[in-house]
Amino acid sequence: MALDQLSQPQLRERERELSKRHDALRKKGLALDLTRGKPSSEQLDLSAELDRAWGGSYLTADGTDARNYGGMLGIPEARAFGAELLGLRTEEILVGDNSSLSLMYRYIAFAHQHGLAGSGTGWRDEAAEQGRPAQFLCPVPGYDRHFGICEHFGIEMVNVALEPEGPDMDAIEERVAGNPLIKGIWCVPRHSNPTGQTYADSVVERLAALPLLAGPNFRIFWDNAYAVHHLQDDPPELRNIMEACRERGTEEGLLVFGSTSKITYAGSGISFLGANPSNLASFQRHLAASTIGPDKINQLRHVRFLRDMSQLKKHMARHRAIIAPKFRRVLEMLEEALRDELIATWTDPPGGYFISVDTLPGLASEVVRLAGEAGVKLTPAGATFPYGRDPQDRNIRLAPTFPPMSELEQAMQVFVVCLELASVRQRLGTMERRDAKPSGEQA
Ligand SMILES: Cc1ncc(COP(=O)(O)O)c(C=O)c1O
Repeated sequence: MALDQLSQPQLRERERELSKRHDALRKKGLALDLTRGKPSSEQLDLSAELDRAWGGSYLTADGTDARNYGGMLGIPEARAFGAELLGLRTEEILVGDNSSLSLMYRYIAFAHQHGLAGSGTGWRDEAAEQGRPAQFLCPVPGYDRHFGICEHFGIEMVNVALEPEGPDMDAIEERVAGNPLIKGIWCVPRHSNPTGQTYADSVVERLAALPLLAGPNFRIFWDNAYAVHHLQDDPPELRNIMEACRERGTEEGLLVFGSTSKITYAGSGISFLGANPSNLASFQRHLAASTIGPDKINQLRHVRFLRDMSQLKKHMARHRAIIAPKFRRVLEMLEEALRDELIATWTDPPGGYFISVDTLPGLASEVVRLAGEAGVKLTPAGATFPYGRDPQDRNIRLAPTFPPMSELEQAMQVFVVCLELASVRQRLGTMERRDAKPSGEQA
């Protein structure tokens, strides 16, 4: 029954029963973790052949010895692979070492401190002229590590609502127009982290036009981390933003990111930056101060193992066979426990790595605290918002991929008890406070 239909005595009874269950769970001494979206060992094993895939030859398609220095943009076959993966041209791709996040960080360091168009054009210099920090638009809920990069550089983050079709474009256009302090926007356009939606074509078109409204050196950070990570048949298509930019002449304002972190080895994959060649050339000069080139042997074994898009598709189907049942189980357990209570909503994502739960307002941190007491680590409440501040304290990101099924089920049992307990206590508190008020204050 919906919680708000229970009487006070019924709620008290329910609170006693849930507290007892929570106590019993605490005594089990569990140590479970639902925090980070990591592939499980079983998924990593799918790429075991990677270790042998370089096949005895270190020569790349253009005859370069992959063991040596150089090749800042990556080996030709890895650039071609990244281009297909991200829907770009080969000459628009730079292949980096593991971690696309690190490419994002390095691009921001370049743009903020050194300047995309030479000395004096750093975002921080341009913003300092106005006595303010540079700003970034952050669709929320979003990816905590994106926000962490901005915080690290002192870039002010501005929340924008992420709606079912993508970020609220009216709000974005209004903020960007006439405000040169806004230097970028974070986008996870496919199977968004944590809410799972794919941006609609109309949103992609409007985003592609954004550099026309923005001030100088504005960039869209198009983090296509989950480009091929589907959990269902026929996942929604994503409009190719580079093509949309080309139609408007805004390619300079676009940076596309991706990696094989959740395709092969999360800690030992290869990453991609897609950008128009002049953008790539200036970034390459910046990188040259810090490295003489990436790990080309890793690039070589990746392309020899993953081969092409048809092989990649088969490989991703094997990932799906492992993780889709885990997502289904989490959804079943949420549905079974919470169906009638109307105390939370959650996503059923067609891809990506997360399920996003919204509690009643004001309860996410309490649920995370109660779960922690019972030995289940959840992503800290607020992590999906800039500065760790969820204005409504509602959003919790669940990451089902890493734990084995038995542990996932145990963790979810704890999670639903904590969610129910926190909700019942909140409701009781509200009723008790209302009853305690002198009658004249009832209005
Ligand atoms: C949206 C998004 N971007 C980037 C990453 C990290 O990617 P990489 O391992 O290539 O640094 C993650 C990992 O969870 C992610 O969710």
